[in-house]
Amino acid sequence: MPGDPIAAAARLRAYLDRRQPPTPCLAIDLPQVRAAYQDLTAALPSVDLYYAVKANPAPELLGALVALGAGFDVASPGEIDLCLAAGADPSRLSYGNPIKKASDIAHAYTKGVRRFTTDALSDVEHLARFAPGSAVSCRILVDAPASQTPFGRKFGCAPSMAVRVLRAARDLGLDAEGLAFHVGSQHLSPSAWVAGIEQAAAVWHEVGGLRVLNVGGGFPTGYRSPVRALPEFGRAIDDAVARSFDEPPLLVAEPGRALVAEAGVLRSEVVLVTCKSDVDTHRWVYLDIGRYGGLAETELEMIAYPLATAHDGAEDGPVIIAGPTCDGDDVLYQRTPYRLPLALAAGDHVDILGAGAYTASYASVGFNGFPPMSTHCLDAD
Ligand SMILES: Cc1ncc(COP(=O)(O)O)c(C=O)c1O
Repeated sequence: MPGDPIAAAARLRAYLDRRQPPTPCLAIDLPQVRAAYQDLTAALPSVDLYYAVKANPAPELLGALVALGAGFDVASPGEIDLCLAAGADPSRLSYGNPIKKASDIAHAYTKGVRRFTTDALSDVEHLARFAPGSAVSCRILVDAPASQTPFGRKFGCAPSMAVRVLRAARDLGLDAEGLAFHVGSQHLSPSAWVAGIEQAAAVWHEVGGLRVLNVGGGFPTGYRSPVRALPEFGRAIDDAVARSFDEPPLLVAEPGRALVAEAGVLRSEVVLVTCKSDVDTHRWVYLDIGRYGGLAETELEMIAYPLATAHDGAEDGPVIIAGPTCDGDDVLYQRTPYRLPLALAAGDHVDILGAGAYTASYASVGFNGFPPMSTHCLDAD
């Protein structure tokens, strides 16, 4: 468990009690982010970390990671500009999104970004034209068991195509530096990285002359159940690399969730508690945040957050939890068993723990007129 997430959550809840910001809002504990970064660095000592900005782009959080020497995995001109504004050096930015417009590539290049991930010949042509001479890695599709929030086949290409992509990059004057893969977010098993490394090694040897292996993100966070400790992932990666490569590659990773999830508490307010009939076994609890306000990862109930209320410890009962919008899909949990205190009523707070990743960055700008949540970053006094 990186840092001390229980202490961080307590600090954040006390802050929210004191300051009473309008809900929904996200509070982020910067000391916990720093501790998670240091723990991940210790667990993956041979790996250069590029924080996946999409997980949480709060400027203060980016600034804290800049100060620790982190690199940044960026996915758009907007994320590039945020990192540069937070003080990042463009040489520490890696444009990891294989899906990018030619104008986005040109923007990145103008701002000094020289490291890109690709997975398609047409993107390589754009890179050669709009980011000449840049370092390029090709992302491969990995055949591994699925993560909790899998990417499917959207990113990466087959290993045989990766060979062609990297050769084309070289022919076009780019620096074909390596291979990348991402096992899917919130992956519970180190074996996925082992599969990725072994599959990458085969391409690596065929292409020849590569230097960098990017093992992506996906490192998990314990939400309602504990997950394996980060050093287990580090050991599995190191062992697989040692077995698969004669000369060790420069290892890069792009963690998002594992650095920031446990640093966040999202405070919501209960809008309504009701039953649908006199014989309903479950209360419906409607919060002022839902799928469209930032809890996008509750889709298919893939991520089940721990919840906390001021009534915890009192008698509870089963609930279905839903968001405030007029969309029928805006139900957070109806299959995943949740219990909330019977005393819970409109106006009470429900705190969503472990919510620092993929929440504020997913909030819609105003679906149904609900404004996006605010983010408050707390630092040590
Ligand atoms: C290219 C890339 N790198 C890194 C990440 C971060 O993944 P995680 O938050 O699971 O560590 C993502 C997540 O979507 C991604 O798309």
